[in-house]
Amino acid sequence: MALNDPAQQQEWWRHAVTYQVYPRSFADGNGDGIGDIPGITSRLPYLRDLGVDAIWISPFYTSPQHDHGYDVADYCDIDPLFGTLADADALLERAHELGLKVIVDLVPNHTSSEHEWFQAAVAAGPGSHERDRYLFRDAPADGSLPNNWMSVFGGPAWTRVEDGTGDDAQYYLHLFDSSQPDLNWRNPEVGDMFVDVLRFWLDRGVDGFRVDVAHGLFKEEGLRDQRRPEGVDQLRGQSAGESMVERSEVDEPMWDQPEVHDVYRRWHEVLAKYDGDRMFVAEAWTQTPESMARYIRPDEFSQAFNFAWLLADWKADAFRGVITDTLDAVGLVGGSPTWVLSNHDVIRHVTRYGGGELGLARAKAATLTMLALPGSAYLYEGEELGLPEVEVAPEFRQDPLFLRTGEGGRDGCRVPVPWSGTAPPYGFGPGTGQPWLPQPDDWAPLTAEAETGDDASTLEFYRAALAVRRTFATTAGDDVEMLELGEDVVAFRRGPVTCVLNCGTAPVDLPEGRVLMASGPVDGTLPGDTAVWLG
Ligand code: NOJ
Repeated sequence: MALNDPAQQQEWWRHAVTYQVYPRSFADGNGDGIGDIPGITSRLPYLRDLGVDAIWISPFYTSPQHDHGYDVADYCDIDPLFGTLADADALLERAHELGLKVIVDLVPNHTSSEHEWFQAAVAAGPGSHERDRYLFRDAPADGSLPNNWMSVFGGPAWTRVEDGTGDDAQYYLHLFDSSQPDLNWRNPEVGDMFVDVLRFWLDRGVDGFRVDVAHGLFKEEGLRDQRRPEGVDQLRGQSAGESMVERSEVDEPMWDQPEVHDVYRRWHEVLAKYDGDRMFVAEAWTQTPESMARYIRPDEFSQAFNFAWLLADWKADAFRGVITDTLDAVGLVGGSPTWVLSNHDVIRHVTRYGGGELGLARAKAATLTMLALPGSAYLYEGEELGLPEVEVAPEFRQDPLFLRTGEGGRDGCRVPVPWSGTAPPYGFGPGTGQPWLPQPDDWAPLTAEAETGDDASTLEFYRAALAVRRTFATTAGDDVEMLELGEDVVAFRRGPVTCVLNCGTAPVDLPEGRVLMASGPVDGTLPGDTAVWLG
């Protein structure tokens, strides 16, 4: 999967480590208990010192916050909770001064129900051009719904317009919360609006976009029923940990339609007119590595998130499969791979891998392995501190997934980051005001302050790993040679670096080489749940 064009090799995002900031949980500048843009700006030196190349900021636009900003009411303004456009400009300027790139989040599949377009659509009534920007359908006479689609957040994907009565009653489609109506991408006004939004942020100097639900935009024409075998909760499987293989059995008339690729070809052209290698990365939960790779053909996205590892169990053969399948698939289109273990939608990987000391050891080992691979890596705020998933009490939960179903939800990975001190709010904001989600009482050893300078800490491990990665990330090439070192072992050589991960319990012999970096103690042999880089 070598990239032959030297000019392409130089594009910064191909080898970048990008740190995801979930704004309400990162750092609170004004003490209202909710993170904000000035808070992010104040912590940029920390991120520069951590050694990342870029930050991706989850949505900070005007929003009623039913899905914490993934319900956008105005794509070209900042929600007062998070600050102002001037604050965003200041953040961009400071980040660039520090040599950090900034990626913002774009949410094109749906707007907020408080977006002026949706308000106008409801007011205008059936048959209007305002309603044609969304997916309104007449209420069937038999009292059923327009089709059998389910919301990703539980319950039907259709909500009846409140004042729709009698003959002109209509439902609108929302693949997520009812406050997130899906746009009709077959209406050209929608595409034009998003090109304007892209230009608005590119003109302000952003370096790229993370595109939310990039596989969603178009639905199969006719909105036919989904074929759904009894008992299979297919839509929600996308964040519930189903494997790629299981998902390939699934019928999905609402996702990954061929028309969506024309949108990204158009956006590619828009970005190409700007200087400085502007990029865009797709959040596309597709069924196979090959369908993921279609989003990164040379005239489409720069990158797509590769969720395969994040969905894999702690098993060497699963990880080996993810690596080879990913490299093969991106190789088909000459693209570069991405790797990610945690984000704001999934259980933190320390906890996924068993929690406690074992979970942390495995999390560090998986991280080290991911960071040795070619391509770019995405980190999620707090993973560098070794934060576990938090069991948030039901009365504090805010995720619409929980509110619609009464179970699960993603609040546990969104608990505000602990910065300093020995008790909540751990320096999250000024003063002692408590943050929007309660932090555990036992997080004092996990603050950035407590971990700084402690060689045994997760933070110093990340700093060291990112520093060593810098020495080979852009020069080691993209070819990966898988090595056979045993059933429980993932091993590969990339240029001068050999990476070995032991997923088993018995120690394994290491190949020749000097230890460049290890996720735990290594003494001649490699203990279980540990990874090492040799050079
Ligand atoms: C994916 C985002 O990552 C998630 O947080 C959000 O709820 C959905 N898209 C809907 O926008």
